[in-house]
Amino acid sequence: MSSGKPEWLGILEGQLKEYPQATTYSFATLSPENKPKVRSVIHRAITPSGLLLTTTDVRMQKPNHLAHDPSVEIAWWILDSAIQLRITGKAYIVSADAATTRKAIQAMGVQEGEEGKNEWWQDKREQLWKDLSGHLRGSFGRPTPGTPLDQVKEKPEDWIQRLDPESDDPKQKKDIEFAKGNFAIIAVQPTGVEVLELKPQPNRRTQWTKQSDGSWSKVEVSP
Ligand SMILES: Cc1cc2nc3c(=O)[nH]c(=O)nc-3n(C[C@H](O)[C@H](O)[C@H](O)COP(=O)(O)O)c2cc1C
Repeated sequence: MSSGKPEWLGILEGQLKEYPQATTYSFATLSPENKPKVRSVIHRAITPSGLLLTTTDVRMQKPNHLAHDPSVEIAWWILDSAIQLRITGKAYIVSADAATTRKAIQAMGVQEGEEGKNEWWQDKREQLWKDLSGHLRGSFGRPTPGTPLDQVKEKPEDWIQRLDPESDDPKQKKDIEFAKGNFAIIAVQPTGVEVLELKPQPNRRTQWTKQSDGSWSKVEVSP
């Protein structure tokens, strides 16, 4: 058992440094009917306390699922190194809505420094919003994801194509305000991690489990 920075996090950071393009992972949630739902998302950042951040549109299904049950699992395949990271944990939505964000911070129970503060999270949301491409920013201003197209008034060719992070133009400003209001962080707090390495022969599989005192236990298992 060890405290401090978990060994698995060092492995993940090393992989991302070596293969910075390996940012897509599969992210599974539970629907309100307790059915597993999985989709691809993009890894955006790791916080100082070791939370994994991705982003979403609050109008998608993920926030609804996480409000029902914060349990999640990530399957992250790093093609170039033939490593799979399977990360189990709980995930929380940090959005423009102050009450939602307060609840997330409380549930995460992050004690360390700035991460326990609403301002830290709103600054992070701002930074991640700026990091998006204009096209992706625009998607947050388009019709509600999942709506049948015959119920959407605007034709696809009239939808917002791209948005700047901010603007002084009154029309753009209004569009940005609406779009940014839909933009949220998903913060994943890992409780279990499994690393499967397919390059070594025989393959290696290592599991870490978070203990109640915050340390991580480690066990190497037969692959
Ligand atoms: C490569 C790739 C990356 C994606 N990245 C994200 C992402 O970071 N966040 C997101 O909400 N959806 C992302 N999507 C779309 C999701 O896979 C999914 O279609 C969408 O989030 C709606 O899912 P939901 O309604 O179950 O929340 C991505 C899709 C692909 C194919």
